[in-house]
Amino acid sequence: MNNLESILTENRVFQPNPEFAAHARIGSLDAYNALVAEAQNDYEGFWARQAREFLTWDTPFTTILDDSNAPHYRWFTDGKLNASVNCIDRHLPAKAQKVAIIAEADDGSVREITYQQLHDEVAKLANGIKSLGVTKGDRVIIYMPMIPEASIAMLACARIGAIHSVVFGGFSAEALRDRINDTGARLVITADGGMRGGRTVPLKSAVDKALEAGCASVEKVVVFERLGNAALNAGTDVAWSALIADKSTTCDPEMVEAEHPLFLLYTSGSTGKPKGVQHATGGFLVNAALTNAWVFDLNDDDVYWCTADVGWITGHSYVTYGPLALGVTQVMFEGIPSYPDGGRFWQMIERHKVSVFYTAPTAIRALMKLGDDVPAKSDLSSLRLLGTVGEPINPEAWMWYHRVIGSERCPIADTWWQTETGAHMIAPLPGAIATKPGSCTRPLPGIIADIVDDEGNPVGHNQGGNLVIKKPWPSMIRTIWGDDARFQRSYFPEKLKGYYLAGDSARRDDDGYFWIMGRIDDVLNVSGHRLGTMEIESALVAHPLVAEAAVVGKPHDIKGESIVAFVVCKGDRPEGDAADAMVKTLRDWVAEQIGPIAKPDDIRFGDNLPKTRSGKIMRRLLRGIAIGELPQGDVSTLENPAILEQLLGK
Ligand code: PRX
Repeated sequence: MNNLESILTENRVFQPNPEFAAHARIGSLDAYNALVAEAQNDYEGFWARQAREFLTWDTPFTTILDDSNAPHYRWFTDGKLNASVNCIDRHLPAKAQKVAIIAEADDGSVREITYQQLHDEVAKLANGIKSLGVTKGDRVIIYMPMIPEASIAMLACARIGAIHSVVFGGFSAEALRDRINDTGARLVITADGGMRGGRTVPLKSAVDKALEAGCASVEKVVVFERLGNAALNAGTDVAWSALIADKSTTCDPEMVEAEHPLFLLYTSGSTGKPKGVQHATGGFLVNAALTNAWVFDLNDDDVYWCTADVGWITGHSYVTYGPLALGVTQVMFEGIPSYPDGGRFWQMIERHKVSVFYTAPTAIRALMKLGDDVPAKSDLSSLRLLGTVGEPINPEAWMWYHRVIGSERCPIADTWWQTETGAHMIAPLPGAIATKPGSCTRPLPGIIADIVDDEGNPVGHNQGGNLVIKKPWPSMIRTIWGDDARFQRSYFPEKLKGYYLAGDSARRDDDGYFWIMGRIDDVLNVSGHRLGTMEIESALVAHPLVAEAAVVGKPHDIKGESIVAFVVCKGDRPEGDAADAMVKTLRDWVAEQIGPIAKPDDIRFGDNLPKTRSGKIMRRLLRGIAIGELPQGDVSTLENPAILEQLLGK
């Protein structure tokens, strides 16, 4: 049974664990309903209350929602605050000695950083980058391993009002260069390298390559000495240690307007060019803090661990900003779940007594394959809540997570959200909402989610449609950096009555539970990583030997989806050894253009691609061919039907 079928036939229900509910922040369905009603009766008042309760404002706001320039909604506009103050200073001196980050390196060595130390390191780096001339509104690219210094760099930017844009360390020099140039960044903060699975990740050399290829805006590069082998370029490069050596541990925070951009984060869409999703300081922090409290029920004595990389939105809301805003202790992990063996996650949960654990379905599926006896070797009794994010979780993986990792005791929060939403939108409040394996359950209070047809009309229960959010919320995307028109086109298409279009299809069952079915656009979800088919196609056709390419997704046991590329080469179609060599060349090429995560799993060569008479590539047919099926339906509109058999390899 495939994922979709198993989700469609799923009917198990798990009531909230009464012991958990007794201590939860929101501990009953009544409490959930009361919040939903509060938001319904006074939407702005509801959000104002949350913004005041969860954040510390330097200048309190009086305006709540400004929709005068919709869909560029603005929240808490006359309020001022600083994100690093909300994540650090306000916990001091009370939590000076409390551990903020337990950092476990790839090789297993552990460092603990208290809130006071975090404060001091952030202040020193903030003073350091200020001394390089970075000021409020400047863009800073952060290209770092998963070590505390990545969060320190983000918070240092926030402290002085600089706008950070973190680029995932797995992206290539080319991808990095595109992002640097799109943001016009003056500064890059990187490391001489990182460690993953016993291997070094050459970050600094990728920065060098990007800069050589042309990044006119960049003036300086700060290099954290993770490996201790940084070769610095005279003129541009500054060693992190030298930069902070003489800097003060006091740095007056820049109090910024709530709408001041906190960060840009690039994500894939349905064209070749990634979009710079812009988030605002105040609104983003409200939902980041609130969801960590409500959905993860984080309390002072929790040890929290989100396995996401800071290069993704999950690392922004659920590693750097949200947990620190609540002043909790968190684990940060540099490495990978399979190194030195597949028990790493479970050993770490035991070692650090993790109580709340948040990971992706792809990791759960991969670890599930190793068998129950691997986690059984570790003591997982510290766990009290489990979360998942990034893609639909198949009920089988959900049940394994529930049974083997959570001992049938821990609630599972399947959290649906996106880079653009900034924080969880649809997810169970663990003390209040019963869960169903494979469903992200019900919208959070204050989030007005619905499923509509292409004209914006609600569809009936159990009918699929477009997942939309009908009212603005604080942590929503403000715009696409430098491209307001694309922002409006992508997320607020005219026909949809002003609703936010998520780009996912979903259905809602008789109990009002949401079930995410997948993307409605040309976006793939490979191991929880979002990739545009067009982005990969553009990379392929940039190769001198490629004439044309089309990319589709194909269901995959562990990754969720794998990438299949259909390629037409210039000259003869490669066969046999020549084809094998070309496959390798193109996979390496895509890794260089985008990053190893975008390497096609399967490349097929054809003399041509299936096209309509007007020249449009028929992806629907290619999706069938990718899974080995010759299209059954009508192919009469096809210009060149014979090509189908060739691509199928028959
Ligand atoms: O298709 C949905 C899927 O991931 C997309 C968002 O990807 P990204 O912006 O990279 O953010 C990932 C981390 C939030 C969504 O449009 N997705 C995310 N969470 C879930 C999900 N699909 C099903 N269930 C989820 N819990």
